[in-house]
Amino acid sequence: MSVRLAPSILAADFAALGASVAAAERGGADMIHVDVMDGRFVPNISVGPLVVRALRRVTSLPLDVHLMIEDPDRHIPAFAEAGASLISVHVEALPHLHRTLAFIKGLGLKAGAVLNPSTPVGSLEEVAGDVDFVLLMTVNPGFGGQTFIPRSLSKIQAMRSLLDEAGNAAAIEVDGGIDDRTVSRVVAAGADWLVAGTAVFRSDDAEAAARRLRAAAVAAAQERLASPRGPR
Ligand code: DX5
Ligand code: ZN
Repeated sequence: MSVRLAPSILAADFAALGASVAAAERGGADMIHVDVMDGRFVPNISVGPLVVRALRRVTSLPLDVHLMIEDPDRHIPAFAEAGASLISVHVEALPHLHRTLAFIKGLGLKAGAVLNPSTPVGSLEEVAGDVDFVLLMTVNPGFGGQTFIPRSLSKIQAMRSLLDEAGNAAAIEVDGGIDDRTVSRVVAAGADWLVAGTAVFRSDDAEAAARRLRAAAVAAAQERLASPRGPR
């Protein structure tokens, strides 16, 4: 499973979004994470399809759209049309998760299921074979710049086991409080894709920060592969 660094634009300067994304891209970013918040599912309000469309024009990287909204089904087509490459939806917002995952895939996009910190790994048991990726929140969603929740480490391991049991090599993405201190720990636990907002865009040099984080993640992934426990 290859490592991906996904800088989150939530922490970027919105008046200079193109330049911020370009810096992250030069630093080796593998995709761009877009946090969509509606002020209802989460307390904060952020951006919508217009911003996805604008990003689509300035980068060729996959756009990883994280929907923190109520009734996501209603808005998924607009994000797909705007140029999203991956869309993830919260299990807590969806009574028909299986249907929504199929809907996203039917639009030709990669579909991810997201779990809040308090939502158990087992909530994905029945769809473990259907997800293209799983996004584990390592903070409570709504804001950037929060502190990583340490309990997430054992949750990453448990999610890997659940996916493996289902025969699904789907990536595990982590989101919230990922920085120079936490990146190696989450990758060692089994995370494959790393979202990082503050650590990239609130640093003095987004390009250097992205490069450093990605290198640390790649090193930790190589160690994980070589560990006596095997790949995980
Ligand atoms: C939180 C968002 C995150 C956030 C991460 O609701 O889903 O993607 O931007 O921000 P940092 O990396 O600053 O914790
Ligand atoms: Zn996010």
